[in-house]
Amino acid sequence: AGPKPLAGKKLLLTAGPTREALDPVRFMSNHSSGKMGFALAEQAVALGAEVTLVSGPVSLATPAGVTRIDVESAEQMLEAVLAALPGQDIFIGCAAVADYRPLAVADNKIKKSNERMVVELVRNPDILATVAQQQPRPFTVGFAAETDNVEQYARDKLARKGLDLIAANDVSKPDQGFNANHNALTLYWADGHKSLGHSDKGQQARLMLDTIADHLACQ
Ligand code: C5P
Repeated sequence: AGPKPLAGKKLLLTAGPTREALDPVRFMSNHSSGKMGFALAEQAVALGAEVTLVSGPVSLATPAGVTRIDVESAEQMLEAVLAALPGQDIFIGCAAVADYRPLAVADNKIKKSNERMVVELVRNPDILATVAQQQPRPFTVGFAAETDNVEQYARDKLARKGLDLIAANDVSKPDQGFNANHNALTLYWADGHKSLGHSDKGQQARLMLDTIADHLACQ
């Protein structure tokens, strides 16, 4: 076998959901399992990379050789990512970051005194777009989970967030994407695209990292 395609490269990635606190005992979150991000971390180690994984709360074991930093909220995830960013060659935003968080976190447990309650939400920072704006910046990769017009929305996101590459999946189809063990990603970059077929997340991760390594080699 030849040299590993990511030997000497440093990869930082996010995975899993974030939790946005409402009060000391409650939060808003989503069903992200973290499987795709953890598969990417594991495969990247196999390809020779030095891997740092910033993870929201998930019930997955840390792959061997991976440095894992656990966070809960989007703001904590951003802080951890920016702290780990210097010297990274590749960043992959794989986390399902909550788009909004409660404006105020109650100091005490909220009581059920009224029939209705209103919670005001504020936008969370976009971690991926923030990384893409850094100078210098790593080769920056995002995900797009779409239910329709997959290519158009993915290419819009690639341009709007200023990414080098985006991995799109059609989450309207069963057994791929969110929480599933399989995926069927299509990679898009400025002047090309590649469909990875349908396979388990380990294989999708491997194919995705091979493509990223090819792009780094051409830089
Ligand atoms: O805009 P949208 O949420 O569809 O973008 C998805 C991509 O952006 C994913 O790569 C996700 O990890 C990243 N993202 C982020 N911070 C956010 C929202 C999304 O890093 N606040």
